[in-house]
Amino acid sequence: APPKVLAGFGEQPLVIAHRGGRGLWPENSLFAFERAASLGVDLLEMDLRLSRDGEVVVIHDRKVDRTTDGSGPVAELDLAQLQALDAGYRWSADGGESFPYRDQGVRIPRFAEVLQRFPTQAKVVEIKVPDVGLEERLCALLDEHGQRDKVIVASFYDRSLQHFRELCPGVATSASPSSVRLLVALDWLGLGRLLSPSYQTLQIPPSSDGITLATPGFLRTARDRGLNVQLWTINEQPVMSHLLEMGAQGLITDYPDRALQLLGRS
Ligand code: G3P
Ligand code: CA
Repeated sequence: APPKVLAGFGEQPLVIAHRGGRGLWPENSLFAFERAASLGVDLLEMDLRLSRDGEVVVIHDRKVDRTTDGSGPVAELDLAQLQALDAGYRWSADGGESFPYRDQGVRIPRFAEVLQRFPTQAKVVEIKVPDVGLEERLCALLDEHGQRDKVIVASFYDRSLQHFRELCPGVATSASPSSVRLLVALDWLGLGRLLSPSYQTLQIPPSSDGITLATPGFLRTARDRGLNVQLWTINEQPVMSHLLEMGAQGLITDYPDRALQLLGRS
């Protein structure tokens, strides 16, 4: 059976707005999430970090420099300082000719605000920093808002995911890159069926470390294990079509409008 968070979606391919659809509007902002949700995406993807004072905030990079008008590591700024930044400051659709979201009130959101604003929307949430207590805070917030069944938790850090699974059972998780490598190796040996995974989804790039992951055989092995396979970051429609034909069950994209159009859903 699919994890609860995906239960209502049936067989249709999932459209997942990467950082809320960062090709269309400023990433990881409530504005982006609102707009992506009104396009009708299936899941919102976002990145989690901790502020210096321990608040879970939604931002991708270790530092605020690339996306805001501020500078410095997220972990060295208090929530109030992060909230004072303009998170629309650097976004441009024309390579820096214009910056339509400057001074429009786009902020770095607290994860709690996202949970409040989107109580029923399914989300992919990525733990960006291990070993700082983010797993505990995340689980507590999901419980506070009654949303254990509304998220898929992802991370590049295997230890983060293992820790999260122990302390927050019942929440769907994605495979870490090391788990993906193990599955690839077993598949090569023809032993993929021996694996009983602790995760419910695979979120993978089409290729990684020179190894092509998006092959019909590997995708079939994953599906046969009951895994939902979602590919990132897929922004061009011909590539989207190709991957869907190959058996991808979800597209994580900066341009959810393109995926929805391709699927005849816009
Ligand atoms: O969904 C996978 C993707 O979010 C990982 O890449 O760097 O955009 O967080 P990144
Ligand atoms: Ca991410």
